[in-house]
Amino acid sequence: MRPISLRRFIALGMICLSTVGCLVIWATEPIRRPKARPKDIHSDDILSYSFFQRPVLTSKCTRQLQFWTNSNVNGYSDDAIRFHCPGVPCEASIIANTNISTTKVSDGVVFFPEAKWSWKKMHSARPRGQKWVFFSRESPSMISPGVIPPMKYYNDSYDYIMTYRQGSDFLVEFGHYDETRPEVRADDDRNWATKKKNIVIGPAADYQFATWQRGNFIKELQEFVPIDTYKACIDSKPCTESEGFEEKVRSYKFSLALDISRCRDFITEQFFVSLASGTVPIVDGPAREDYERVGPPNSFIHVNDFTSVHELADYIKLLDGNDELYNRFFDWKKLGTVVSIKMADLFATENICPIFLRMHEDEMKIGTDVTTNRKVPDWDEWWWNSCSY
Ligand SMILES: *[C@@H]1O[C@H](CO)[C@@H](O)[C@H](O)[C@H]1NC(C)=O
Ligand SMILES: *[C@@H]1O[C@H](CO)[C@@H](O)[C@H](O)[C@H]1NC(C)=O
Repeated sequence: MRPISLRRFIALGMICLSTVGCLVIWATEPIRRPKARPKDIHSDDILSYSFFQRPVLTSKCTRQLQFWTNSNVNGYSDDAIRFHCPGVPCEASIIANTNISTTKVSDGVVFFPEAKWSWKKMHSARPRGQKWVFFSRESPSMISPGVIPPMKYYNDSYDYIMTYRQGSDFLVEFGHYDETRPEVRADDDRNWATKKKNIVIGPAADYQFATWQRGNFIKELQEFVPIDTYKACIDSKPCTESEGFEEKVRSYKFSLALDISRCRDFITEQFFVSLASGTVPIVDGPAREDYERVGPPNSFIHVNDFTSVHELADYIKLLDGNDELYNRFFDWKKLGTVVSIKMADLFATENICPIFLRMHEDEMKIGTDVTTNRKVPDWDEWWWNSCSY
């Protein structure tokens, strides 16, 4: 280190008394380190910086994300869709295909569970620093086990998690409770039971494969309370159980929001659609705590709270005959609003931007070896063991 003269020492010292930022300058001044890069950086700087941090994959400042899928996701295709994300200096680009040539020049890959891939091929095509995203909106029971890397690649595959599980890097939400926006005024004392059919609505018992005896449960409950069933998805494919549900559910006091799997955090659209539509969902799926974590207080009935279907039916009948009790399930509307999120919204460009922002932030982490920075959840524990069937 070069010696610092006394005058210089005093001058620097005085300046630095007032600002913390100066400490950095002071410490780095004598050894001429590269200047800290400002937050709002010109795109050319990113390129020159990238030369020593990671390979430059594209000739201009664009960050490309590959959706590894052949199905039509919101119109993304082989033709890149380009847009800008707030806080990300480079242009964002999305290409959807399963072409390994695209992988070789992409900054990130989102693996769609319905697509197939060879881990070996993907690893050999992967440029240094390319981010891999584990994506699933389905529970473990509904998707291929092949999405989980083999032991050999266990610690060297996905960087980010994009699922319905709490703690995901990018949470795939089917809805949420917004506590900052009351839906009705505090003095709103409407009767939420008015003009509603006193019967419950539920999915047709035989409608879709479920990992538990959902069909039997519906049939059993039907012996005690009338249940209107609906069949969604008759013409349109692919579709979710929620299609056709939303219009019907409004006119019912209760809905059966029975998830196809009983997996931690796996709470699908019907729960949120019911709440947003002014219907009390009767839920079965993960434990009560999981619903409480994402839903409004006292807003649903959990099947597990009853020892038998008969007991549940009695409770439904009690609420059906007592508007005062029934209305307590809507008190939360004076405190907040439930927003349900459609599948199509999940992949709107603004909802993909958090991935580009995160890639940008990680790229900016000076001196971090991106390849040793992978996310390592215990896949057995975190994914496979999250369901009780
Ligand atoms: C994959 O991408 C490359 C490069 O863009 C292209 O030449 C090739 O035709 C593509 N392959 C398929 C099967 O689309
Ligand atoms: C993955 O990383 C964990 C924690 O660092 C380590 O215990 C485990 O042995 C690694 N597994 C493999 C297959 O390398």
